Amino acid sequence: MPQLASKDVLRADQFSKDEIEVIMNLAHEYEGALTDGRTLNVMEGQVLCTLFYEPSTRTRLSFEAAMLRLGGQVISVAEAKSSSASKGESLCDTIKTVEAYADVIVLRHPQIGAAKEAAEATSKPVLNAGDGAGQHPTQSLLDLYTIQKEKEAVDGLTVTLAGDLKNGRTVHSLALLLANYDVRFLFVSPGALSMPAKIVDRLREAGISVKMAEDLAGALRESDVLYMTRIQKERFDDPSEYDRLKDSFILTRKHIEDARNGVVVMHPLPRVNEIAEDMDDYSGAAYFRQAANGVPVRMALLALVSGRA
Ligand code: NCD
Repeated sequence: MPQLASKDVLRADQFSKDEIEVIMNLAHEYEGALTDGRTLNVMEGQVLCTLFYEPSTRTRLSFEAAMLRLGGQVISVAEAKSSSASKGESLCDTIKTVEAYADVIVLRHPQIGAAKEAAEATSKPVLNAGDGAGQHPTQSLLDLYTIQKEKEAVDGLTVTLAGDLKNGRTVHSLALLLANYDVRFLFVSPGALSMPAKIVDRLREAGISVKMAEDLAGALRESDVLYMTRIQKERFDDPSEYDRLKDSFILTRKHIEDARNGVVVMHPLPRVNEIAEDMDDYSGAAYFRQAANGVPVRMALLALVSGRA
């Protein structure tokens, strides 16, 4: 039986396949409760602190909604400048303070490795809600949950990850999480924004086929799932380099005419210009359903790390 109680959630590659299945099954159960309007008291008496030092809409709000739906309570720092971080307090000191106020901590921070550093400063569970250009493991779990719901089986799928694969933490985590399954990857990005070699090597070592491409239309002809991402403006030192690359790939309804039948289009959101609005009424456009799936998946994670499920 996998043991997630008191564990931190720091990386997508920390989970065994059994643990992933436990999370998916519990999320499914909670989704049923949400649909039926059943109230839950799994996290009664518990306090979640969301500590967000980078902008967020979906991740923070879905974590908070998840905690409230489980009968728990929430305290929140929604921007670094409203916390003592802006006075120069170290992350470690902030965490040592917050652990006295909350039972579980969700952290988003601009630095790679920040969540790990926070986890080392406290015995309370820390969930990584994005550490710079590092990872975003809870997003990858809701992405997997979405793929399972949209496509049923994950094994056998060709999954295309497109956009800023260098700086995008969602695609780093999703690639590593899907390495637990029999998938084939196509990576579509400008040459300057390709998937880090370390991740590609890990996938190939796991026996996963990975092909690089620069052509979105070609990749779509072979894809069961297309996962688009935003060019990560905030990670660029040179604004002119961002301007050069920002519109590298724009998915429009026209692309779908030549795509593999039934292709599911995903995006962690926010989108800037990568998916035209004419895509939104395509039946396989799953990105808003994907955002909604954040609630049951994060409910499952909160309950499991808190030892309440
Ligand atoms: C992503 C993130 O913050 O990494 N958003 C999210 O959590 N859904 C994607 C992005 O900002 O491009």
